[in-house]
Amino acid sequence: MTELDKMLEMARKAMEQAYAPYSRFKVGAVIRSDSGRLYAGCNVENASYPVGSCAEQGAISAMILGGDTKIADIVVMGDGENLVSPCGACRQRIREFSTPETRVLICDRNGVRKTMTLAELLPVSFGPENLS
Ligand code: THU
Repeated sequence: MTELDKMLEMARKAMEQAYAPYSRFKVGAVIRSDSGRLYAGCNVENASYPVGSCAEQGAISAMILGGDTKIADIVVMGDGENLVSPCGACRQRIREFSTPETRVLICDRNGVRKTMTLAELLPVSFGPENLS
């Protein structure tokens, strides 16, 4: 099994675990950090809708808890005809822990549909360097 296959498998499982009773739109995210470790997250909705959190957020929390701070690749997986690319807020969240090489793999259950760099998804971005 390749590393990508592992990430896709973890993302499928994360999607299954998602708590999305309101939108019924389940999302899974898996980060491969620069240390090679994998971290998964799923979306968690709330009866007070804006309080819900995205899958990417969960995966970033898991990565931070695991002691890593650099995202090499992130898989974002969801169903549907349209590409499930990270929402605007999550692009900024990913940005915080990105390098210029960070890749965002936009996936469905069958695999990768499109690969983009974070810089393509969030050009001319604001980041930690602005505050140093
Ligand atoms: N969602 C994510 O988890 N990640 C994204 O990048 C796009 C949207 C979730 C949030 C909400 O629970 C559901 O998808 C519908 O918007």
